[in-house]
Amino acid sequence: MKYSIAKGVFDIVPFEPDPKSFWRSSHLWQFVEEKARSFSTLYGFQEIRTPIFESSELFHRTIGDATDIVSKEMYTFRDKADRLLALRPEGTAGVMRSFIEKGLFQHTKRNKFFYLMSMFRYERQQLGRYRQHHQFGVEALGIASPMQDAEVIALLYSFLKELGLKNLALQIHSLGTSKSRESYKKVLKETLLPHFNELSPESQQRFQTNCLRILDSKDPKDKQILKKVPHLQEFLNTEEKEHFLELLSLLDMLQIPYVINPLLVRGLDYYDHTVFEVTTSDLGAQNSIGGGGRYDRLVEELGGPNTPAIGFGAGLERIIQTMIAQNVTLPEVPAPTIYLIPLGEEAKKRALLLTMQLRDAKIFAEIAMEEKKLKAHMRQADLIRAKYVVVLGEEEIKTERIQLKSMQTECEKNIALTDLISEIKNTI
Ligand code: HAM
Repeated sequence: MKYSIAKGVFDIVPFEPDPKSFWRSSHLWQFVEEKARSFSTLYGFQEIRTPIFESSELFHRTIGDATDIVSKEMYTFRDKADRLLALRPEGTAGVMRSFIEKGLFQHTKRNKFFYLMSMFRYERQQLGRYRQHHQFGVEALGIASPMQDAEVIALLYSFLKELGLKNLALQIHSLGTSKSRESYKKVLKETLLPHFNELSPESQQRFQTNCLRILDSKDPKDKQILKKVPHLQEFLNTEEKEHFLELLSLLDMLQIPYVINPLLVRGLDYYDHTVFEVTTSDLGAQNSIGGGGRYDRLVEELGGPNTPAIGFGAGLERIIQTMIAQNVTLPEVPAPTIYLIPLGEEAKKRALLLTMQLRDAKIFAEIAMEEKKLKAHMRQADLIRAKYVVVLGEEEIKTERIQLKSMQTECEKNIALTDLISEIKNTI
């Protein structure tokens, strides 16, 4: 029986034979993940990891019953004790559950978390959209000031810049609080009602369940109708407006370019005030690289203390795909500094010992283990891009001297076997 991978998911592998799927190469993932870790540390965020599944109810309460994620895309299942669980479709809900359950707020009022976790959404597969995707996310808790919004956005923006990404658009908007949104929704519905029959079926459905989401409809006819609707910003109170304007002035000061998008509402119900998304024109339909916003009500709604919070999630698949699409200089697969080729049984043992000694000295060393002709060994050294090669045969063991060959210059240097480590260290 031959097994194949489930639909909508993918393997991350050291060597990806299909050039179109090069973004699935593990060294690219390691590179981006390491950058995410080091950037998070630089900005004072500490790692948090939560389980892959949580009670399904947690996601209903946080993301919202009427959202696509909860109503259509969740992987929900019952365990052997009949508990209703779900694979996490996003990171914020689980992180908040953990924050409250572990009482992390008792240690310090301000908490800054980051995570690199996989998420699960039953979506229609297309480029940039998968049923298991990976997010680099951060959540900053405890500070209501727009300074915190600016720090979170600056982290996402500079992280993407550091990876070499270009043509990024930071779209930003304020959703105010639920009171302002309620008055806006009333007016929005009144404005849309005369056009109800012209709306796309999806927007007609959203009219009842989640009318704000009509604003980010991609349907061309909906978009035309939406030109007539008033903007949510007109319904914000003074405090909400001030928060937003202060954030914009901080972004100006930090020289982070942005576009105010009055139609940006995001697909999760927990947001208040600031929402943002970073998009790129180089990805096709799934153009959102990362998105987030403020969710000041959520911790309290889940039974924790009143804690303002803001965060983002950025999709690693889309980041790596954009890096490739934009011809960013990519890291290479790590190559051994030295490749040892033993010829004969005695040489094999000696070469293995030597390889271990090189590794103890933190030199990336690889050893040939198969019986092959020297020519085939050299081809292998070339394939793995070894910088130096040493052939260890009877003669070399007897004389305790070896030829250290540079694969780049083809030059050979005769050295004592005992000097190998210091010689390599001097040359690299
Ligand atoms: P989200 O916008 O649903 O937000 O997802 C964040 C990012 O994950 C998206 O911008 C996109 O890059 C990536 N993504 C989402 N779904 C898929 C998919 N099916 N395939 C590939 N990539 C995908 C959240 O999840 C929020 N929890 C973000 C947040 C954190 N807000 C506050 N804190």
